[in-house]
Amino acid sequence: MIEWKDKREFWITGVRLADPETGKIRTGSVLVQKGVIADIVRQKSVDTDLPVCDAGMYICAPGFVDIHTHLREPGYEEKETIKTGTAAAAAGGYTSVLCMANTDPVIDEPSVIEYIKRKAVEAGMCRVYVAAALTKGLGGEVINEYHFLKEAGAVALSDDGMYVTNSQVMRSAMEYALFHRLPVISHCEDNFLVKGSQMNEGYSSTRFGLKGAPAVSEEIAVNRDIRLASLTGARLHVAHVSTAGSVEMIKAAKRKGVPVTAEVTPHHLTLEDSLLENYDRNLKVNPPLRGRRDIDALRAGLRDGTIDCIATDHAPHHEIDKQVEFDKAPPGMIGLETAFAQLHTELVVKGKFELIDLVRLMTIRPAGVIGLPGGRLKKGVPADLVLIDPNEEWVLERSMIRSKSKNTPLAGKRFTGRIQGVFFEGKWRSAIFSEKRGRESSEPARRHV
Ligand code: DOR
Ligand code: ZN
Repeated sequence: MIEWKDKREFWITGVRLADPETGKIRTGSVLVQKGVIADIVRQKSVDTDLPVCDAGMYICAPGFVDIHTHLREPGYEEKETIKTGTAAAAAGGYTSVLCMANTDPVIDEPSVIEYIKRKAVEAGMCRVYVAAALTKGLGGEVINEYHFLKEAGAVALSDDGMYVTNSQVMRSAMEYALFHRLPVISHCEDNFLVKGSQMNEGYSSTRFGLKGAPAVSEEIAVNRDIRLASLTGARLHVAHVSTAGSVEMIKAAKRKGVPVTAEVTPHHLTLEDSLLENYDRNLKVNPPLRGRRDIDALRAGLRDGTIDCIATDHAPHHEIDKQVEFDKAPPGMIGLETAFAQLHTELVVKGKFELIDLVRLMTIRPAGVIGLPGGRLKKGVPADLVLIDPNEEWVLERSMIRSKSKNTPLAGKRFTGRIQGVFFEGKWRSAIFSEKRGRESSEPARRHV
């Protein structure tokens, strides 16, 4: 058999093709030519002289698209770099990420965008799209030059990590963003209500003696931004929705035709605030983990389409930053490498979701929110694909993590379903963590069923 790896032309055969557009999973094979999907056939095997990657009944889906990633470079290379962050993305099944602007310098100048784009091409692990800052230095006061940022490649605008407190500034930002046809991604948390908070306000925060942020701190902000989107006509995307009240407001706004979309993170969908009992700094995130009722509402919102997609909010922080008193620890957890396994385990294996629903929420839906080209399985598009074994059981070990930071509360957890690797523009980027088959870069196993 001819080796298929590093070839410009080869077949991926015997896979179960998960097509987010049709919602069907069918057996088939894919022809990759010069980094593009050249053909898709319904046969399990093909008669060909070309090299064949026999992917033994793995699920083959479009590579995942994450529209909320913190790559930290430039400025915080001790937490993550474009190289390590995109390697983590590929390991998690992602072939496209949208990186956030809270770097140093902040992404508010075209030169920073050019720097990130160049580094991403050098790394060659996945596509990197850039969200530029809404305001100068994320200061919330002076609006950036959106024209030049868009020209340099920005596909969205966001002060993520910060709420734009000044409503007049947000109104103007939306007006300019609309003019430049860029979506506005808003981090919705009222600064005054969340000041000093460490977790969700409720029974658990009282028990643990930690200052809480009430659900309304998010809901007030969501409400304001929906009203401003309605007033200006700008495309609003609400980042990391975490409360039942936010879901209700977004649902009502969509019904009225307000141009709003929303995302939810794997951690807000699966982890409860009561887990903070052990004061694990890796469970401290903004917005905070909420209670059971909120989790149920977020899942219902995903199912009925109120929430459009899943996004990780992959937020690497160095161990030194996290190993401090709880109130001094920065918020955030990594998520790229565990998102699929965690959600497949909790929502598909234990929950009411179908695998194809999850694939949709991680591919075509997030791509559609920002207007990115990825997330489709059809002839002529770049061969950005993920191979998944939905049955593999595995335990996350710290040593497996590709991200430079290891701030996850999921170490030691058992999952069902594992990413086997991605093809990025037809090039195999192994995901199987290095311990498997004892090699850094393994190929799909031949496992006919
Ligand atoms: O928990 C979070 N961490 N939420 C954010 O919005 C920002 C992020 C970060 O940059 O660390
Ligand atoms: Zn945020």
